[in-house]
Amino acid sequence: MKYRKQSTVLTALLLVTMLVFTANSCSDGQAGQVDELKSEIERLEDLYKPGLHSLMNETMHRHSSLWFAGVADNWELAYYQHHELEEVFEKIEELYPEYDGEPIATLIGNMTSPAMEEVEEAIEAQNPVRFREAFTNLTASCNSCHESTNRQMIHIIEPDQNTVRNLRF
Ligand code: HEC
Repeated sequence: MKYRKQSTVLTALLLVTMLVFTANSCSDGQAGQVDELKSEIERLEDLYKPGLHSLMNETMHRHSSLWFAGVADNWELAYYQHHELEEVFEKIEELYPEYDGEPIATLIGNMTSPAMEEVEEAIEAQNPVRFREAFTNLTASCNSCHESTNRQMIHIIEPDQNTVRNLRF
């Protein structure tokens, strides 16, 4: 669903871009139209760009599911959740290398990536003790970034209750 939506957006952007090129080859009198199309491209891009807060909400959800999969020794599911969490961080780096003046991509590289690697190694080793330690470090890295970006009130903790009721852990 996510991908179908993205491809629809890409098709729309491609069409508008083609129109811009066509318009560009026309007379100078049509420069105004070109500008209009360019601002339409920007509007469409913004329309389909998930906000950082939405991406962070997905991060929170994955963080929780990763924990419950790990403590249930369901390593296959833990591996999957870890991979999806990694993809969300990659998307954040791509869409918000900087946000509100903060170097988000650099902070992820410095704080989150080492913790994510530790978790991956623990999952691959199927080692519950290492998993718990690595997960604690991952949670600490969420909070370090929230502190660095003046969002210290968003304090992430180890989930104590699984709110996802329809997935087997
Ligand atoms: C690179 C820095 C960084 C890292 C790493 C990071 N966050 Fe965030 N997070 C932010 C910023 C900045 C905001 C505020 C976004 C805004 O203002 O829209 C935020 C907001 C949030 C929110 C609030 C979303 C809402 O509903 O508004 C949650 C939940 C969250 N983060 C969870 C996490 C979790 C869980 C992790 C770790 C797995 C994490 N974050 C790692 C920077 C980070």
